[in-house]
Amino acid sequence: MPARRLVAPRFPVKSLDSQPNLDHDVGMPRSPLVNFWNTLPVGFTVLAPMEDVTDTVFRRLIGLWGAPDVFMSEFINSTELVHSKRRFAKQHAYLDSKELADLQRPLVAQIWGNEPEDYRQAIPRLLEAGFVGIDINMGCPAVKVVRRGSCAGLIDHPAQAGELIQAAQEACAVAPVSVKTRLGVKEKKTHEWAGFLLSRNLAALTIHGRIAAQMSEGEADWDEIASVVRLRDELGSTTRIIGNGDLRSREDLARRQKQSGVDGLMVGRGIFYDPLLFRTDGRRFEELPPAEKVKMMTLHLREQQRVWEGHKGYDLVKSFYKIYTRGWEGGEELRDRLYQTRSYTEATEILEQWLL
Ligand SMILES: Cc1cc2nc3c(=O)[nH]c(=O)nc-3n(C[C@H](O)[C@H](O)[C@H](O)COP(=O)(O)O)c2cc1C
Repeated sequence: MPARRLVAPRFPVKSLDSQPNLDHDVGMPRSPLVNFWNTLPVGFTVLAPMEDVTDTVFRRLIGLWGAPDVFMSEFINSTELVHSKRRFAKQHAYLDSKELADLQRPLVAQIWGNEPEDYRQAIPRLLEAGFVGIDINMGCPAVKVVRRGSCAGLIDHPAQAGELIQAAQEACAVAPVSVKTRLGVKEKKTHEWAGFLLSRNLAALTIHGRIAAQMSEGEADWDEIASVVRLRDELGSTTRIIGNGDLRSREDLARRQKQSGVDGLMVGRGIFYDPLLFRTDGRRFEELPPAEKVKMMTLHLREQQRVWEGHKGYDLVKSFYKIYTRGWEGGEELRDRLYQTRSYTEATEILEQWLL
């Protein structure tokens, strides 16, 4: 049978081929000279920064299928971006022209690194590229990184953290600077640490309700997140507080907002269970027929190939197959076949056959 050319799935409201209205009036700042965080209503949503997940391809797809109020990049090493020929930082900072054309929500670059001077050089480039805010990663728990006093390691080095924030604020001028962090490194020191951060005039502060030693294990502590909201209010700070940890459904978002009083809710792994989580019309991914899910996967594969072929290995896209094949009869079998593929072409052929 001749291979049929795949078309963009019918389900997404906007296919990747039909460009959405760029004048869409939903909080996309017209210029970076705006603290967009202050314009968002309580209960706003953020797609968490996730390395090897929230790249330019994935963000665009989520934007088309049901956008959060704010997007964040994968974490970008500022030192590498400025000084190194290695490709990772540049790839993490990469904005595909189609993403920029479709973008209807503020897009924040998340950076990490311990050299204030590198922040001063990296940030203007990121703002120039199209990001409208800078988030500083003070939460990555990787042992090597923490030992060097980077990311979550900064929790135990507030003076260094303060210097980095100041460098970012100077480099951003009026574009907003935010921080994403945890409750502590080996033990919780929520108030001491959050109190320090809240004295730094940040536009937003994301609290992932775990300590670094937990990695992603155990439940996120939303009572601690609630205590940061209270502290913010006691201090009279205007920093928007965003809660993060274990949000998997719209019900979770509503429940945790009510429980904690946070301004915003950040979803990480929950997007793997429902890529439509941010839709406002109530549609859920699990309700879609398998064919729609497979078409979405096909689109993902096609876009991954368009943007990254020759730059990133094919295998990276395999980690996404589970999203689309979970929870329906025959899905697992399809996934197993896809896991054995070694190229975009092989995988595309399997999907084309499946869709016939
Ligand atoms: C695959 C993966 C990559 C991640 N990469 C980053 C990152 O680049 N920057 C960051 O601040 N957090 C990163 N995180 C942590 C998430 O942003 C989030 O804080 C964490 O997953 C907890 O939220 P969740 O329970 O909603 O997943 C990553 C998490 C995952 C699962």
